[in-house]
Amino acid sequence: MNYTVINEQHRIALTQIVGKEHFFCEEELLKSYAHDETEDLIFMPSAVVKPDTVQKIAELMRYCYKHHIPVTPRGAGTGLSGGALPVYGGVLLSTEKLNRILHIDEKNLQVITEPGVITQVLQEAVIEKGLYYPPDPSSRGSCFIGGNVAECAGGPRAVKYGVTKDYVLNLEVVLPTGEIIWTGANVLKNSTGYNLTHLFVGSEGTLGIITKIVLKLIPYPPLSVVMLVPFADAEKACEAVSAVFQAGIVPSALEFMERDAIDWTLKYKSDIPLKIGPEEQAHLLIEVDGHSMEIIRNDAEKIATVMEKYQALTIHYAESTEEKNALWKLRRSVAEAVKSNSVYKEEDTVVPRYELPRLLKGVKEIGKKYGFQSVCYGHAGDGNLHVNIIKGDLSDEIWNHELPKGIREIFQLCVSLGGTLSGEHGIGWVQKNYMDIAFNKVQLQLMKSIKKVFDPHEILNPGKIFPDNL
Ligand code: LAC
Ligand code: ZN
Repeated sequence: MNYTVINEQHRIALTQIVGKEHFFCEEELLKSYAHDETEDLIFMPSAVVKPDTVQKIAELMRYCYKHHIPVTPRGAGTGLSGGALPVYGGVLLSTEKLNRILHIDEKNLQVITEPGVITQVLQEAVIEKGLYYPPDPSSRGSCFIGGNVAECAGGPRAVKYGVTKDYVLNLEVVLPTGEIIWTGANVLKNSTGYNLTHLFVGSEGTLGIITKIVLKLIPYPPLSVVMLVPFADAEKACEAVSAVFQAGIVPSALEFMERDAIDWTLKYKSDIPLKIGPEEQAHLLIEVDGHSMEIIRNDAEKIATVMEKYQALTIHYAESTEEKNALWKLRRSVAEAVKSNSVYKEEDTVVPRYELPRLLKGVKEIGKKYGFQSVCYGHAGDGNLHVNIIKGDLSDEIWNHELPKGIREIFQLCVSLGGTLSGEHGIGWVQKNYMDIAFNKVQLQLMKSIKKVFDPHEILNPGKIFPDNL
């Protein structure tokens, strides 16, 4: 694709559209929008806009569409697949000014929100009304709900409550051509035509700009038990995971952390009061929640019995809210801790839950073959393992040219186990050239054809999802 480079005339026009207090092209500001949380990647936009109305976004899209100017939408920039990187420069469109919760509908258990609301802020606002929006990525304290929808974010509680798509009922979207549409209706059941709503969820900002979101809510489960289960053998920990569900229990979180993930995080967050014994090589962090303590305790006991069968060491139960929060802080800080330690690549692998031990074993074998260290952790109950490959002392030559072959083998392993490339982080910029492992030409062409229906000039978030050679 040939894109237009923004010149002075475009700058004037774009400023007029969004207003001069919402248009930026100073070097320092552009730099802070040139990266998200993905690796150490940097791509400079030519301009940053922060429109505060849907109409301005529509007009901006019409202008950019007409002039073939690339537009990259961005939420809070916490993404891990490079979805918000403006890889072709152009306009970076931040949704941060669209940050109002518009209506908590207590009669229907729904919330209507703008995309620039921080996920945790939304969660806390509905909890005040006794309601719950469960999908809670580790970055919930800073990520935007709009980014969660764009990537179909998951997080620890997806194992019981489902991922973002399971809560999105309806979306207002500005199309690349500037039309404003609603994708569905604010209803719990809908078999009326194609499901445009779910097409947009997880489309990584390539089909339209999401400007309003209608989410389903559920009653808030106020009670929980949280347990940290150590294992001397990481593969045994993974084997225990599917046994929990086979015993008839669905915990509200079932997370896996390798020893290194915990060690690095405890070093990074020195205020977390936790001691790890020398023989503990991996941990499962398990939460059971609900409305009745009797049922929760009963489930927790059944889980403990399963854990013992898989040679768990001594189980630690959080005794206070503070202790629960500390364990969750530990788990939610792993990604940051790894990042603070070394440049790394993150692969968001996912397999059917029962295959998790084989995935972990295979990742370690591939690591040995290619000479890389990996730190693995993630949402074990979903079969979703975050494989963090550490650059450490590896040369740039090996990192850039040899390592992709190892990553390819990891993804081939996922697919051979019945899994796929990404569970919750999206494909974005960094995984797109592995898409041929999960999809054949026919499937990829179908997706590309959909993209072209929405965005014939391919101006919206170009360079994402599709392999370079498609
Ligand atoms: C987590 C993010 C990285 O699970 O998805 O911590
Ligand atoms: Zn995760």
